[in-house]
Amino acid sequence: ATSSRSCSYEEYKETADWLLNHTKHRPKVAIICGSGLGGLADLLENKTVFPYKDIPRFPTSTVPGHEGSLVFGKLHGHECVCMKGRFHFYEGYNINTVTYPVRVFFLLGVETLIVTNAAGGLNGSYNVGDIMLIKDHINMPGFAGQNPLCGHNDERFGVRFPCMSDAYDRGLRELAKGSAKEQGCDQFLQEGVYCMLAGPSYETIAECRLLKTLGADAVGMSTVPEVLVARHCGLRVLGLSLITNKVVTDYDSGEKANHEEVLRTTELRTQDLQKLVSNIITKL
Ligand code: 6GU
Repeated sequence: ATSSRSCSYEEYKETADWLLNHTKHRPKVAIICGSGLGGLADLLENKTVFPYKDIPRFPTSTVPGHEGSLVFGKLHGHECVCMKGRFHFYEGYNINTVTYPVRVFFLLGVETLIVTNAAGGLNGSYNVGDIMLIKDHINMPGFAGQNPLCGHNDERFGVRFPCMSDAYDRGLRELAKGSAKEQGCDQFLQEGVYCMLAGPSYETIAECRLLKTLGADAVGMSTVPEVLVARHCGLRVLGLSLITNKVVTDYDSGEKANHEEVLRTTELRTQDLQKLVSNIITKL
């Protein structure tokens, strides 16, 4: 799964069949946990845990101590599979490697994908700690030729030219709003456009201003490749961004984007986000 060309159907199938042979779980929901948001996997009941390195053909982590694992289990009676640790393009993975797990989920019988991430807030009315329902995205790496659907198209996954105007399911977003209201976190729930940049450097001030002008509300370094591949094979998608910091758009501000602030906010809100996701799953 690490080669520079797209993977074959048989490769994904081998991984999926191996997993189906090693667990009794038959998940309908897959969750990709963003950095610092993997706590959700721990909430699953009756867990089966597969470290990525033990799964045939599955990509493995580049960072020692961040091995990552696929966690199968039940959340309020709903069968789920959770990616604890995702693959980022900025780590040097091929774009097809980043999205490898999504096609495996499809072959496992998953119908709904929930993706979470940490993102910088571009929209001036957003506060640090807000949760943004992703209503649409801007695929900047795609503009530069990095789209996981490039290359041979296998019709068993989906069509050559998939529609993306309905990428983020309206019904799931409405459901999420209901859940947020129920648990009293609707005052920090937003809905907006997520823009992906390849990273790993944060944006310059001019880039932040550009992205704002383009209509983006939040900026991050993940999620879009996985969503493209999920929509290609017909999975319903719900995306949630945790706004961990406000981007700098003022040359006199003196503030600097930094990973520590991102981690601090993630820690602050990870419980709320976990609760929101599990609440949503009970309503699926
Ligand atoms: Cl400010 N930018 C990007 N690209 N990713 C982020 C972020 C900012 N904050 C969290 N993730």
